[in-house]
Amino acid sequence: MADATVKPWGETKIVGKPIPRVDGYERVSGAAVFPVDVILPNMLYGAILRCPHPHAMIKKIDVGKTRQMPGVRAVLTDADPEARAVGWYAAPGAPGAASRMLSRLFDPHCRYEGEEVAAVAAESQQQAWDAVRAIQVEYQTQPFVTGMEEAMKPGAPPVQDGGNQVSAPREIKRGDVAKGFAEADVVLEETYRSSCEIHAPLEVHGSVARWEGDRLTVWDTNQGPFGIQSGIARALNMPLSKVRVISSYMGGGFGSKQEAGKYTVIAALLAQKTARPVKLFLTREETFLCVGNRPAHIMKLKAGVKKDGTLTALQLTGLGEVGAYPANTSVGYQIGDLYKCPNVHTEELMAYVHAGRNRPMRAPGYPQGNWALEQMMDALAEKIGMDPVELRLKNISTVCQLENKPYTSTGLRECLTEGARVFGWKEARSRPKGDGPWVRGVGVASGMFGEQFGPPATAIVCVNADGSVDLSIGAADLGTGTKTVMAMVVAEELGVPLDRIHVENADTGTTPYSRVSGGSKTVFGDAPAVRSAALEVKARLLEMAAEDLKVPLSELVFKDGAILAQGGAKKLTIADLTQSRTRQMVVGVGRRDPDPTDKIVRPFATHFAEVEVNTRTGEMRVVRMLAAQDSGRVMNLLTYRNQVLGGVLMGVGFATMERRIMDSSTGKMVNASLHDYKIPTAKDVPGEVTCLPIDPHDTECSLTGAKGLGEPATVPAGAAIANAFYHATGIRVAAAPITAAQILTLLAERKAKG
Ligand code: MOS
Repeated sequence: MADATVKPWGETKIVGKPIPRVDGYERVSGAAVFPVDVILPNMLYGAILRCPHPHAMIKKIDVGKTRQMPGVRAVLTDADPEARAVGWYAAPGAPGAASRMLSRLFDPHCRYEGEEVAAVAAESQQQAWDAVRAIQVEYQTQPFVTGMEEAMKPGAPPVQDGGNQVSAPREIKRGDVAKGFAEADVVLEETYRSSCEIHAPLEVHGSVARWEGDRLTVWDTNQGPFGIQSGIARALNMPLSKVRVISSYMGGGFGSKQEAGKYTVIAALLAQKTARPVKLFLTREETFLCVGNRPAHIMKLKAGVKKDGTLTALQLTGLGEVGAYPANTSVGYQIGDLYKCPNVHTEELMAYVHAGRNRPMRAPGYPQGNWALEQMMDALAEKIGMDPVELRLKNISTVCQLENKPYTSTGLRECLTEGARVFGWKEARSRPKGDGPWVRGVGVASGMFGEQFGPPATAIVCVNADGSVDLSIGAADLGTGTKTVMAMVVAEELGVPLDRIHVENADTGTTPYSRVSGGSKTVFGDAPAVRSAALEVKARLLEMAAEDLKVPLSELVFKDGAILAQGGAKKLTIADLTQSRTRQMVVGVGRRDPDPTDKIVRPFATHFAEVEVNTRTGEMRVVRMLAAQDSGRVMNLLTYRNQVLGGVLMGVGFATMERRIMDSSTGKMVNASLHDYKIPTAKDVPGEVTCLPIDPHDTECSLTGAKGLGEPATVPAGAAIANAFYHATGIRVAAAPITAAQILTLLAERKAKG
């Protein structure tokens, strides 16, 4: 904390309480206008034609018939100069291609099923869909590869120039693993696999674009309008001041809505061509192909441990499946840094395949790495005859070993000990498993999420003439309760009731800059700026009161939204101050201070799971879960619990059902719909989910003491379930998801072996 005069909150009146969303009514009543709800006068509807092949060259496109279709107002292909002028680049951070153009807007070289080929704007959505179907395309299909192991073999069809290895291996190296394995009493090795998962936010991806003169306004469903704004500005070669992006409500993203989509630029070009607003939202089926996924991974992990539980070495060889264009997902951080281990070597490659590209997905790489590491820890514990909780406690680190700096706080110990106590771990672990067909077991897994430095953020607090408050922040609220938490920070500082605070957010035209709501950094990054803005307002109000009451500043006290002097004998409310004379409005602008550079901020979690498995049918039920979370201070207990429940549920999806299935003979995804691609629904929610916040008030990490929550809440859930499955059945399922089919196969294999 740079400003040493600002004290961390002690007792709080609002912060930390379970407070319903400030926009809850709007959200549940349908009054909230999400981008997908935007309807503008004179608006057209867009649709995109996508390549049906995993790999093809476009020889010819005939749009003659399409132009004659009813309602069609514009057709856009690679033949149009405005489309040709758009270059598509790698996402920031993607290896090896940051400044290299990857494709044209409509690239004649299609590298995955779902790549954009052409687009249409028409008077109705149905007419637009009909029109794209009428486009005649002559494809020359090419050899393809859709599995990462095949893609890495010599002679595999190259997805990008230079072959299918995305970049040089990514490594973490410390100590000497050979020495570590030599010192170990037990060395285990296993190859773990995770499947490709698809983001399935409630609101599908899409935009509405409208031009007014040379200024473009886009309603887009995204996690951070400022990043989308720069993506559009870059693609269309426009100044930022001429591009406004609005994302005040948005229906979920999970990492897939951090970057500008081609659909947004296409909508803007179609709107320009027709001089009418254009709405272009993808169908659910399209989103399965082209707006990102969590990459599948193969993780060969070798670990050494001493009899007393000391980890001596960890070695990972990893391969991930990136899709057709560069992206960046590492499983190594989780493996290389969760536990104290002097000898570590991770080596990871990613492979191009002819399929949709990865985007970040809720803790990118962490649940995969955790799936491997935490099942390995479970196996090591069994081999040395130690309780899995004890083994983890034995290896806790208070230092970030990757950067050799201490953590600002570590609640992992409490996550383990408190979690075990509240879950009833010891009793549950020793309970009889049952003699079938239903058997029962419990498992545990810990996890962490990497968090580097606090992002830049600015917040504006305006106190109006009547004492009510307008708060303006740039951050998108992904449905997690961001606006509510920020309003609570203002209410805490100024004593203004929540129903007198209005929050304006995520509109590049009206709100100040914030980075993307990703990396679990929204509360961590923006709430300190909001607090600092409120503190600035408070200081101004105190100065004004000193002037009005003719009392020295030092004798004034700010309490419950009023300023008191002489033990309360003199009192002014905020409204008294702002209305008096001609002041009308008091404005405070807050910025976030950088984090300390000599320490590392990191959230931790430990999850406990209990499962029931039917050894006759292969059915598995997650009976209950407990999630102990160290995410620093709890800002809002209600939205905190919601985040944790969502994280646990995504872990259930990862561990038990979610999987993109590619048909290797056609190169197409065969389950690209919510019918065939399983995500957890109400019936799959564990019977009981307990959220246990370890609430350490990490006052070193920011002005609020809160660390990230959204992503760490999902990291260890899957591995905890896998470990519970092992405890119940004695079968180690190295490959996620653990489906009924896989369970039956493994049970049959065991039976065959006798
Ligand atoms: Mo997230 S995967 O940082 O939106």
